[in-house]
Amino acid sequence: MSTLIRLLNEEEALACVPDLCDVLCDCVDGGASVGFMSPLAPADAAAYWKGVVSGVRRNEVLLLVAEDDAGRVVGTVQIGFALKPNQPHRADLMKLLVHRAARGLGLSRRLMMAAEREAKERGRWLLVLDTATGEPAEAIYEHFGWVRSGVIPDYALFPDGRYCATTIFYKRLAPVGHV
Ligand SMILES: CC(C)(COP(=O)(O)OP(=O)(O)OC[C@H]1O[C@@H](n2cnc3c(N)ncnc32)[C@H](O)[C@@H]1OP(=O)(O)O)[C@@H](O)C(=O)NCCC(=O)NCCS
Repeated sequence: MSTLIRLLNEEEALACVPDLCDVLCDCVDGGASVGFMSPLAPADAAAYWKGVVSGVRRNEVLLLVAEDDAGRVVGTVQIGFALKPNQPHRADLMKLLVHRAARGLGLSRRLMMAAEREAKERGRWLLVLDTATGEPAEAIYEHFGWVRSGVIPDYALFPDGRYCATTIFYKRLAPVGHV
């Protein structure tokens, strides 16, 4: 499968909502703790993605997707800009999701590299994320050079209702002292 990583504008993002819903529902069905309980209704997934599209329109969110050779979205990640006036250099990395049918192909690395590049180009050189402790993504972020800050127990729920801890990571994209 040849895959293209794309940064979407508002119009493109809206057109991708059905595919993005499929990716999100597939991840939740697979047990990923990404903000939703199971089963995730398609209408709730669509409402979520339409909110992300609004964020893209307001220039508060960067939405990247991985598209397969048929133009179908099979993976995604977001950068959410910190909006506080005293954090102009910071952003949150959010919702790294790869459809189960497209895992193990290196898409998460390509999505993360593209997201980090886009963030850095906009002066957002300190990135923060949280991820479910003990799940595969935790080890993958470390593999990608993110620094573990700590663990918060019982932070959220898995889609089946069990509590899960969250691990906070950060990554500096510029040397210490950069302003
Ligand atoms: C986490 C997720 C995005 C990974 O997507 P993926 O594209 O299948 O990732 P890959 O399997 O290609 O692995 C990416 C890299 O991590 C490495 N890796 C995979 N599992 C690993 C592990 N357990 N420990 C360390 N490294 C690991 C791979 O070798 C690969 O490294 P490389 O690029 O140097 O070859 C995907 O599993 C997913 O969508 N999970 C559900 C949603 C989720 O939990 N998202 C995180 C929300 S914070």
